[in-house]
Amino acid sequence: MKPLRVAVLMGGTSSEREISLSTGRQIMAALDREKYLPVSLDAAALVGRQTAPLSSGSCGTPLPESDPAAFGSFVPAALSGSPALIPEDGLRPDVVFIALHGKGGEDGTIQGMLELLGIPYTGSGVLASALAMDKAMAKRLLRAEGIPVPEEILVRRSARPKSADLAARIEGSFGFPAVVKPNAEGSTIGCAIVREPDRLEEALNDALRYDSTALIEEYIGGTEITAGLLGNEEPEALPLIEIVAKSGFYDYEAKYAPGGSAHIIPARISETAAALARDYAIRSHQALGCRGMSRVDMMVRADQPYVLEVNTIPGMTPTSLLPEAAQAAGIPFPALLDRLIAYALAKE
Ligand SMILES: Nc1ncnc2c1ncn2[C@@H]1O[C@H](COP(=O)(O)OP(=O)(O)O)[C@@H](O)[C@H]1O
Ligand SMILES: [Mg+2]
Repeated sequence: MKPLRVAVLMGGTSSEREISLSTGRQIMAALDREKYLPVSLDAAALVGRQTAPLSSGSCGTPLPESDPAAFGSFVPAALSGSPALIPEDGLRPDVVFIALHGKGGEDGTIQGMLELLGIPYTGSGVLASALAMDKAMAKRLLRAEGIPVPEEILVRRSARPKSADLAARIEGSFGFPAVVKPNAEGSTIGCAIVREPDRLEEALNDALRYDSTALIEEYIGGTEITAGLLGNEEPEALPLIEIVAKSGFYDYEAKYAPGGSAHIIPARISETAAALARDYAIRSHQALGCRGMSRVDMMVRADQPYVLEVNTIPGMTPTSLLPEAAQAAGIPFPALLDRLIAYALAKE
């Protein structure tokens, strides 16, 4: 069979660019060359941003078989408004593997562009991607489905109440500690646990640097777990992973530094809690209309899981959770990529 042309879209312009490059490199290296003809593309270049060559990112490893000239020009050609520039065969990829995180990659915008171009792509579509990126919106839908989520107060930069008033509202509802985070960010960027009212102002300032809306959430103390899901409408739940951050907080450092956190499979929670967690995870994926894969982050308190967020493009770095969960389910990384590409090409 002729190998499928796979364009691995990585990098981009979001605050998670470095992680995306690491994910993209890992994917490029693992794609089976018998089945695929992979080419890497920096999403930043699509929007005309100057970036360092992909081979010289902080992760250092040169990209294998990267030849943007082969079909890397397909998008600029399409964007120039001349369909004749996208040949029927030749330059056009059969599928785009989206290895982007955060805004401009995981939020439905790239997905919309690929829809317009008529090119299949891995992972969720426009709506599910946009919903999952907006934590407040996603929580509304999950709540409506009867899935437990932490309570929250939404703070908009443009109509920001006085911190003392907010602190009083928090004390009158879920109380301190509270978690402050930007509504649409990832990788724990701008996210903080606020233990005392007088730290609220600073935490909100920080969160609102990353997004015009911040969430103040009820703090759920307990066991942190994550559920990886594979599939389109009827996803299967991979083994639950428990995350134990060295610093006590699963922040950027804990997520990406080697040894920053320990991952325990299966998570050390009761069978009751695990069954609920799998059920909530599958229903969260379905409620948002995710496709291909997702990873649902949860906190388990007294056998009750709470969904924190749904990630539509989970990291695939060497220390990432979804590949680890797949491995534990007997799905090695190259086979995981095969599946994601098959889900992308599935018509249902
Ligand atoms: N309500 C909460 N209660 C307890 N811990 C939380 C809560 N919200 C977030 N956290 C902690 O912060 C981390 C990041 O939060 P999350 O909502 O998953 O955002 P993101 O991963 O997109 O930055 C979580 O992995 C968890 O350790
Ligand atoms: Mg998370």
